[in-house]
Amino acid sequence: MSKTISIAIDGPAGAGKSTIAKRLAKELGYYYVDTGAIYRTVAYFMDLIGISPKDVDGVNRYIDEVTVEIEYDEDGTQHMFMNEIDVTNDIRTPDISQKASLISAHAVVRDVLLDMQRDVAKKHNVIMDGRDIGTVVLPKADVKIFLTASAQVRAQRRHLELQAKGSKDSLEKVLADIKQRDHQDSTRAIAPLKQAHDAILVDTSCMDVDAVVAEIRRIVAEKVGQ
Ligand code: DC
Repeated sequence: MSKTISIAIDGPAGAGKSTIAKRLAKELGYYYVDTGAIYRTVAYFMDLIGISPKDVDGVNRYIDEVTVEIEYDEDGTQHMFMNEIDVTNDIRTPDISQKASLISAHAVVRDVLLDMQRDVAKKHNVIMDGRDIGTVVLPKADVKIFLTASAQVRAQRRHLELQAKGSKDSLEKVLADIKQRDHQDSTRAIAPLKQAHDAILVDTSCMDVDAVVAEIRRIVAEKVGQ
């Protein structure tokens, strides 16, 4: 089997990772793997059965009861299955965002999900986004990007997204949630959110989507000639 190409995009919540990664994946013909959705699916399962995301023993006890699968439809959209149920939309709430952040701190959860992420990258050219892709999941990725933006800008973007879905949450609440998640994700003991030493920093605070896509395409062309 010929070697596959991997592009890792890490960064905090709301930096635009999924929007950018989806666009790039389409343009390059790669698989887009949203790893946050995998943690969200586990968080959603534990929530359904009444296990707190902070309850390490409970999470340990029930982790084998959940199967998480990724499937792609014809236009490349990623769907998440929890025990064969499509939960793609159910996992996109602010409540599950917070719970996914808490649950992702547990070693057992990260261990179970690690091989699954690596397997996709072994079989396909991927653009994978998350928090620890360049540092832990794919340390030998061909291209590593650390995508960030100020907390204020990220909150504004998330607020607009949530409003479009009918949410009434204030900008202040969205900002507080983002700051809390930044703190949790970057201070946990295992695989915290951090820029890999060989990742390229792209600050999107003052850039629109087209500009970010163009910048990353330039970096990809330089590194892998595509
Ligand atoms: O990218 P997201 O907002 O959907 O991720 C939800 C949570 O999952 C995030 O707050 C932390 C966790 N996560 C992680 O620990 N490692 C990843 N590679 C991706 C997400």
